[in-house]
Amino acid sequence: MRRMSDQPAFRDSAPVEAAAVGASLDPTPATENGSPRRSYYAGRTLERARTIEDLRRMAHRRLPAFAVEYLEGGAEEEATLQRNLAALAGYRLLPRALVDASHRDQSISLFGRSTPLPFAIAPTGLNGVFWKDADVLLARAAARAGVPFIQSTMSNDRMEDVAAVPNLRHWWQLYVFGPKEIRDSLIARAERAQCEALVLTVDAQFYGDREWEQRRFAHPGRLTIGSVLDAALHPRWALTTLSGGMPSFANAIDWVPKDHRGFFESAFWIRANMDHALDWAEVARLRGLWPRKFLIKGVLDPRDMERAADIGADGVILSNHGGRQLDWTVSGLDMLPEARRRVGDRLTVLVDGGFRRGTDVLKALALGADAVLLGRATLYGLAAAGQEGAERAIDILREEIDRDLGLLGAPSVKAMSPDFLTR
Ligand SMILES: Cc1cc2nc3c(=O)[nH]c(=O)nc-3n(C[C@H](O)[C@H](O)[C@H](O)COP(=O)(O)O)c2cc1C
Repeated sequence: MRRMSDQPAFRDSAPVEAAAVGASLDPTPATENGSPRRSYYAGRTLERARTIEDLRRMAHRRLPAFAVEYLEGGAEEEATLQRNLAALAGYRLLPRALVDASHRDQSISLFGRSTPLPFAIAPTGLNGVFWKDADVLLARAAARAGVPFIQSTMSNDRMEDVAAVPNLRHWWQLYVFGPKEIRDSLIARAERAQCEALVLTVDAQFYGDREWEQRRFAHPGRLTIGSVLDAALHPRWALTTLSGGMPSFANAIDWVPKDHRGFFESAFWIRANMDHALDWAEVARLRGLWPRKFLIKGVLDPRDMERAADIGADGVILSNHGGRQLDWTVSGLDMLPEARRRVGDRLTVLVDGGFRRGTDVLKALALGADAVLLGRATLYGLAAAGQEGAERAIDILREEIDRDLGLLGAPSVKAMSPDFLTR
């Protein structure tokens, strides 16, 4: 775990207004800012994608509109979604001159294991709507890069199939729904599958309302005619995604009553059965059931991080769920300096939300994060071109971080500190 020996320069976590950071941060999927003479790459030649944003454009082109909404959308006004980008934009880098950077090192230590890159792949449910067997493909991309892959309870591939990917650091993300028997059984199954860590997500016991996504549906579970026609106009997506039929929630479906096992119906059943009474006492009980590393994902208040340490968690993930749950929250990055100050070295502190650039990752490390989670960044790659696309996303970030370390005069990510940042 990284030490933050000196006093972080940024005590103040006051929000930077989204409006102050310029139009280039507008994350609305349909917006195409800038001059028409200048455009991101949206073709099919993966090597021509130079940035995560290019992969995003390629994904938008391949996916039908309802899937783009699922991938991109945030809750309500999407103020939380915007905040994630604005918080990152609120920091500037302060490079050091004339530092020998002939060797650059972006490896970190994560739970006692050397990890070649300072990030992991975040849990995302329903990846099967982007590509067939998407979780296995993401897991392979993660294994190739040596970074952990966190598989969601709402994934469409069986836990055991992902666990079979060679050399994978496989973490299991748990959603708590239905009677206790379900969560206990999923934990036992993750233990049998040799998962390295259990990630308990606690910010989704109620489902955030992604209104733009809902507008693609005429009724719950029934797409509008326009959305169906639009999907029909995306045969490349249909061939690579639906060839085995509609995806199903492979790890949760057995718990869903037999008459609710249709695709949308099963999702609605799980949503309706999320445990609204989940509290610290139950989380402490789940901690006791799990013998390996235990992380809590979706905390933002530093008092909750202290509580997590008190119940014996090994780590927390500062996250607002990619802006998809409660609107108008702070971002994980906003709370990072205070979180680190409060928990010191008692917890591994990870953060997610809006990481699309090497410089974004370096900012989080400078503010005290042990590592970053990538949500949409790798999904854009996956949705653009399957496993190779996810690999491309990782390669782009690796190359950017390497170059940025050289430019910053900080040859190792381990040396990142608030000294490299200014507001
Ligand atoms: C399409 C999508 C599905 C998601 N599904 C889950 C999930 O099943 N479990 C979970 O803990 N978080 C889920 N998340 C949140 C991510 O784990 C992560 O917190 C978020 O994506 C980070 O923000 P970013 O996408 O801007 O990187 C999902 C995010 C997206 C974009």
